[in-house]
Amino acid sequence: MEEHRKESVRIFALPRKPLSVTAIYPGSFDPITNGHLDLIQRGSRLFDQLIVSILRNDQKRPLFSVEERAEMLREVVQVYPNVSVDSFEGLLVDHAAAHSATVLLRGIRAISDYEYELQMALMNRRLRPDIETVFMMANEAYSFISSRLVKEVFKLGGNISGLVPPSVEARLHQRLNHSNLIEGA
Ligand code: PNS
Repeated sequence: MEEHRKESVRIFALPRKPLSVTAIYPGSFDPITNGHLDLIQRGSRLFDQLIVSILRNDQKRPLFSVEERAEMLREVVQVYPNVSVDSFEGLLVDHAAAHSATVLLRGIRAISDYEYELQMALMNRRLRPDIETVFMMANEAYSFISSRLVKEVFKLGGNISGLVPPSVEARLHQRLNHSNLIEGA
């Protein structure tokens, strides 16, 4: 009984819903795909503010710099007034807390994403129980798309139209001549 009461206290100790809910949509976005964009569009309808946050991680040897990725993201999210773009390094939950965000938004494409996402969500919950991870299922039309595959197909001469926003496709064309496209996510 005592245990039960303690458990109840723990459960109800979480802060209540804020008046305005801010969500962080974190990722590498190297580059943004139509799958990401679909999630941003649908996420923008659920939360008061949605911040698309690019991880600064040079170890991944990205194709586009964080600044280029942010520019590409801003071009495509400008139609959503409650969506903004940012970048972060260090712990995601610290970045979320710094923005008073209470939600981390992630997309799940297939069962293969699940284990990785579950590990991250549970670790983030352990670090900050007041920040909730919310998963949205990717649109089936985009469920096979990843930034890594887009870069690979593009480098090998495949058609990527419809997989990334046209502005991103144009940037890939510019970059193709002098880049090693295979690296990164
Ligand atoms: O698009 P990605 O590369 O799958 O995104 C991964 C990302 C950025 C969400 C993840 O690597 C991350 O949150 N990194 C920040 C470091 C961190 O907080 N690690 C502990 C939680 S698992």
